[in-house]
Order: sequence, then structure tokens, then C-alpha cells
Amino acid sequence: MTVEQRRIQCWDVDGGYAAAREKYRAEFVRANFDLQEQGFEEVDVFLRADARSLSAKLDETNYLVAAKINKRRLFAEVFGQFGRLTQITAKLHRHFQSEFAPVFCSMLKMGPLQYKPDYHRLAASAEVDESYRWHVDNGPSSHLKLIIYLNDDHDGATAVMSRQDSRKFIDAGYLEGERLFHVDEFAEEHGISYTPYKIQPKAGSGLIFEPTNVLHKGMYPTFGERRVFQIGIIPWGEPWEKHYEEHWAKGYSSSNGFPKYVLGDGGPFDA
Ligand SMILES: [Fe+2]
Repeated sequence: MTVEQRRIQCWDVDGGYAAAREKYRAEFVRANFDLQEQGFEEVDVFLRADARSLSAKLDETNYLVAAKINKRRLFAEVFGQFGRLTQITAKLHRHFQSEFAPVFCSMLKMGPLQYKPDYHRLAASAEVDESYRWHVDNGPSSHLKLIIYLNDDHDGATAVMSRQDSRKFIDAGYLEGERLFHVDEFAEEHGISYTPYKIQPKAGSGLIFEPTNVLHKGMYPTFGERRVFQIGIIPWGEPWEKHYEEHWAKGYSSSNGFPKYVLGDGGPFDA
């Protein structure tokens, strides 16, 4: 089994995500659309000032589960509530063709590399954070990730490829090997043409994408500190507030985890 087949078996099949998506989609009555064909889209999330005040709440930890953030309020700002839905929620409805729920969130910050970036050194270096090498995320195929850029007083970025370009790499076996900092040699070796997109953050803007389908990586700033807040989103059978009350509000918290669906018997969470 390839890495991708194992991921699909683990999440889509064993985890119940494929069945859940079909079920919720069938129950949902709204117009049919889709996320942009390329598998990612830039969106406006917050006002710049709000993003910057959230950024200011980050403490010294490099990777911080957003314990100090009022998640209920944050999700309400991002997704809207009580029927007042944001533009992002409209996009999520169109994409999933169902309701959805945020299931994990975390803050990340990253300063410049301590040495001058050098192609061959970086390619082999263990010092480069795994999420700063080209990769797809683990998890169910149906989940989306929303990266919210909290600041823009740095030159860091997110690089992402279209769904179609990513497919070329996956089909050429990219996921079977180590994550690479640069993929041009791999592309040349396999005759792949591709166009990476560099998403330059504006505080308050965001990137929503299919992290299991599109290759992506963080890009180190050469000055300043890159700060982002990320939210993992899955298709769900009820509005996010309901999910929140039943799970997050009862102590469920996760920086990078997925609930297991158990469809057809009251409780959707297995563990
Ligand atoms: Fe990722």
C-alpha cells in the first residue's frame, strides 16, 4: 500500500469519513458548488486590527495549542453564528454541501532560519521544520484547513500547488519518500511541470485548502516572525455551534486530531 492508500484506508474507510460525507451531503439542501478547482482559495477572515490583537496573545512557545484563546468566540467570528453566516461559512457550505465543524486548532509561529538557506544543505537538514517542506497532511480526504494570517510584519509565506499539479507528484511517488524542501529536482527527474503559488500573508486574510490533496509548505521569513492560527474543518451533520456545545464545551480539545465517526447511533465520537 502506498502512503496515500494507507491514509485513505485509515481515515476515509476505517474512520468513517467517506460514508459521513456522503450521508451529510445527501441530507443537506442547498445549491451545489465546489471549492475552486485548484483546491485552495484565499479568503478574508478578520479585520487587520483583530488579527494583530490575536497575534499579540501568542506567548513564547513555538507551537501552542490555543488554550488561552476563547475558541467559542473565535469560531463565531470566523464562521458567524445564530444564522448570521460569514463569507467563509458560505464557501464551506458550497464546498462540503453539508454543515461542517471545526475539530482542531492551533497557533504556530516561526522566525527566520538561523543560517543562510542553501539548497543542498536544506534538502538534507533535519533543522528544517517538517511543515516547511513540501507535503500533504494526514487525515481524512474531506477535511479542509483554514490558515489565518495574524501578522504581516515579516516576509514569510505559504507555498501551495494546485490539486492537479499535486496529483502529478503524488502519482510519481512523492509521498513515498522524505519531504523535500525544494521539489524542482524531483519534478525534473519525473518530467513534471508545475506552478507553485506563494501566498503572501496580509494580517487578517487566510488560506483555505484541501491539505490532503494539495502539496503545501510554510516558507520561512528572512525577517520578522510568521504567526498563523490554523483550524481543521470537517463535514458535519449539524451547524458548528451544536458541535461546539457537544464537544469543545465539554472539554474536548485538540491541536491536531480527528474524531472518529460512528454513524447511525447517537454519538459521533468514538474516542
Ligand atoms: Fe500541512
